[in-house]
Amino acid sequence: MLKTKIADIRKEVLQWKKEGLSVGLVPTMGALHQGHLSLIKQSLKKCDRTVVSVFVNPIQFGPAEDLDKYPRTLEADLELCKNAGVDIVFAPSQNEMYENTPHPNPPPQGGREQSRLSNDFFTYVIPPFFYTDKLCGKSRPGHFDGVCTVVMKLFNIVQPDYAFFGQKDAQQLVIIRKMVQDLNIPIEIVSCPIVRDENGLALSSRNQYLSEEGRKQALVLNKILTNIRACYNKGIQDVKALGETAFAFLNEHHELEYLEFVDKNTLENKTKADDDTLVLIAVKTDNVRLIDNCFMK
Ligand code: PAF
Repeated sequence: MLKTKIADIRKEVLQWKKEGLSVGLVPTMGALHQGHLSLIKQSLKKCDRTVVSVFVNPIQFGPAEDLDKYPRTLEADLELCKNAGVDIVFAPSQNEMYENTPHPNPPPQGGREQSRLSNDFFTYVIPPFFYTDKLCGKSRPGHFDGVCTVVMKLFNIVQPDYAFFGQKDAQQLVIIRKMVQDLNIPIEIVSCPIVRDENGLALSSRNQYLSEEGRKQALVLNKILTNIRACYNKGIQDVKALGETAFAFLNEHHELEYLEFVDKNTLENKTKADDDTLVLIAVKTDNVRLIDNCFMK
């Protein structure tokens, strides 16, 4: 079930397509948990064949981010996928993904200052600034360029009919939908709800870095979101009023990166909440960056 070469996965998928089978892709960076499993289950339900990609994408990490520390657990990931009934796990090397077509004489600096690629002579997919200069994009410049580039490559390699993404990475999901629409990519994007542990903490590969105390503190994110939604449902629409207590609390107890109210499709900031509003939070707790979000309705 494991494939590491682009040519091999292409061959397999081509055969499926000849047989008229539908193909689902679940793109991941590995360290799979129940959240990923829920995406996999959706794909298995909807598609005849399911491919899970496992690739820690270097170009979506900033120079000061946790690329080297990012958990890599391929054996366990393969086991989880096998038990779930996944058809193929595509786990290419960095070389296979990015360095198989080097320029014979690349310019010394390449196109992008912060790239982590050794042959920085590479075509990137750059989503519109309007979608990327806010929320997570503010503190992670270039992150969504890296995400869109790798997702586009995975789409071209696997050529699935459906691709499954978690609502937990809400900004990523909106940006990928925009890319698919703008570039006429013939793939249906399926979003899957956030999976939470029994205490309400949104599952994330980074949760494993949290201490016991950090885990307790992290629970406040979901509590705040639930509370904001409850206030909205009681009739409060003014975003300042909805966010006031949460801002004060988060600023005092956490390293708050953002708490924002945006349109769920366009990411435009809202001053008055409505049913299309998405509330997003990012904090650093216990030195771990955590994000969470919820819809008003
Ligand atoms: O959400 C993720 O795990 C990654 O950003 C993705 C979509 C697999 C691209 O590397």
